[in-house]
Amino acid sequence: MNERNNDNDLLKYFENNPGRLIHKWMHYFEIYERHLSRFRNQEIHVVEIGVNYGGSLQMWKKYFGDNAYIYGVDIKKQCKQLEEERIKIIIGNQENRNFLKQMKNLCPRIDILIDDGGHRMLQQINTFEELFPHISENGVYICEDLHTSYWANFGGGYRNPNSFIEYSKTLIDKLNAWHSKDTESFQVTDFTRSAYSMHYYDSVLVIEKRKMENPVVRKTGNKLF
Ligand SMILES: C[S@@+](CC[C@H](N)C(=O)[O-])C[C@H]1O[C@@H](n2cnc3c(N)ncnc32)[C@H](O)[C@@H]1O
Repeated sequence: MNERNNDNDLLKYFENNPGRLIHKWMHYFEIYERHLSRFRNQEIHVVEIGVNYGGSLQMWKKYFGDNAYIYGVDIKKQCKQLEEERIKIIIGNQENRNFLKQMKNLCPRIDILIDDGGHRMLQQINTFEELFPHISENGVYICEDLHTSYWANFGGGYRNPNSFIEYSKTLIDKLNAWHSKDTESFQVTDFTRSAYSMHYYDSVLVIEKRKMENPVVRKTGNKLF
């Protein structure tokens, strides 16, 4: 545990894990604390795609508190047996847009979505396109293990236009579309109106949502010359 992580409750939970197996890169814990701590001890609905042995779902339940409702999504049917109080498991394929559309009915409210599923390009892109608009107005979207965007065996490759990392770069333009002078090919979209910030870390993209409006620039104070 480095100094920055001294107060990191998720990391403490992980290191003393009393529950099922958790599989995370160690530098993710600081990222979680930075973006997710504000949701603790409130009513909160969390979806994690990628259940595996169910340990991370138990970690989220403990971390967010008694009003946290956790939904795990996995393609493996046996994950269903990992359900417990306030942890619901949904079986399905995150690459399948019909399944993702059904997710909106199964999870009518999602405040935080963590994509730790199959990490293939279409899985990440389809999940983002179907579910990002469904996340609460002040929610958070996290896509993990972006390094697969550089790996051919996951459908990626350096600067491969089909990779999730290249796809996500187009979102940076959309975030800034308020300033477009080319309104034919570069316009304000729903993403522009609903994404407050994008944070890139090694292998992780965090997008914080907020209702956005045309930015305002002002000047105050006196001129010297
Ligand atoms: C890295 S593990 C999840 C680890 C877990 N979140 C943790 O922290 O312990 C990835 C999981 O994604 C699931 N998965 C793979 N492809 C999937 C898909 N297309 N749709 C849904 N889940 C998928 C796998 O079955 C596996 O259980």
